[in-house]
Amino acid sequence: MGRDVAANVTERDHCRCDKCRHPQTLQKLVDVVSLPEKLEPTTVEQLEDGVKIKWNDEHESFFTYKWLHLHSYAPRLEKYYSPRFKHWDSSIAENPPVTEYEKIMESDEGVAEWTRKIYIHGFSFISGVPPTPEATERLLNRIAFIRNTHYGGFWEVIPDLSSKDLAYDNIPLRAHTDTTYFSDPCGLQMFHMLSHTGGTGGESLLVDGFRAASILRKEHPEAYKILSKVRVPAHASGNADVSIRPYASMPTFIHHPVNGELLQLRWNPDDRGTMDRWANEDETEEWYAAVRLWEGILRDEKSEYVFQLQPGTPVIFDNWRVLHGRRGFTGVRRFCGGYINRDDFYSRYLLTNYGRERVIEAI
Ligand SMILES: [Fe+2]
Ligand SMILES: [Zn+2]
Repeated sequence: MGRDVAANVTERDHCRCDKCRHPQTLQKLVDVVSLPEKLEPTTVEQLEDGVKIKWNDEHESFFTYKWLHLHSYAPRLEKYYSPRFKHWDSSIAENPPVTEYEKIMESDEGVAEWTRKIYIHGFSFISGVPPTPEATERLLNRIAFIRNTHYGGFWEVIPDLSSKDLAYDNIPLRAHTDTTYFSDPCGLQMFHMLSHTGGTGGESLLVDGFRAASILRKEHPEAYKILSKVRVPAHASGNADVSIRPYASMPTFIHHPVNGELLQLRWNPDDRGTMDRWANEDETEEWYAAVRLWEGILRDEKSEYVFQLQPGTPVIFDNWRVLHGRRGFTGVRRFCGGYINRDDFYSRYLLTNYGRERVIEAI
């Protein structure tokens, strides 16, 4: 337990009793400032499942051994209980992650399996979904509520041949992540193609951005550094009543502040604003060179998982990790889908996979 028990104030600050932590809301009731500076245990009793501490101000705390182990910080004993991400390339086409609709709708075990696949691989198909917007929306809601944006919430596109932007709608879209213009980009995105009539093409493509980034990091560390540093202004201003941008321009690769692990990918060259926030002039040349290398990896055949979406088999993917795009097409395609926040997805993933007790203990 090391310094965990020795560090008295920290220990007391985290007391689990009902006076120190609200039993229902699990919020802290301790006023950090009011903790006695000279806090010491008068007795420490080792019981079967934990330690009972009596403090010199008469307060009593109890910590289970499990809790002490989970939260020890010197040394850190807690292990990641999440399975690690599995990188994939185009060969995932042979055995892509799929979850059954029925299973998801019937039980939380089904949701656990589904969210685990999304967490590990960054995406999952769902098989056996009724090809209707209503069923698709209900399916999304099994994870969490649908995120509203300036485009609305759950969306359905019924192409209108007279519409001016149908031409735009048919063109190929290179691999990108969505909503780089939000401070908190959308976490999950689902696409369900309800029908495709009178034409061909329109294959979808997914790219494992974390795999691509790890290749760039290994083969071109300087380019990786540049894309981790140079901030790329992004905006959404197509609708007359909005001009959305993040609270600060963000670089393409966002890392954990302590362990340096890649956490989020933001890459949509089309939604960039003017690149005028360089830290120094040299960066301009370096950035364009780095982007050529980065796009080279993204567009490599080995990176692209290309498939044709089918009615009844939507796909959902982690927009912080997996890039998406599509080939050009002819004819008329009816699509529906929606976004889910990353935090709401992660909460559902944790609770369905590990159970509330274990998740709460680790807070
Ligand atoms: Fe997109
Ligand atoms: Zn207490």
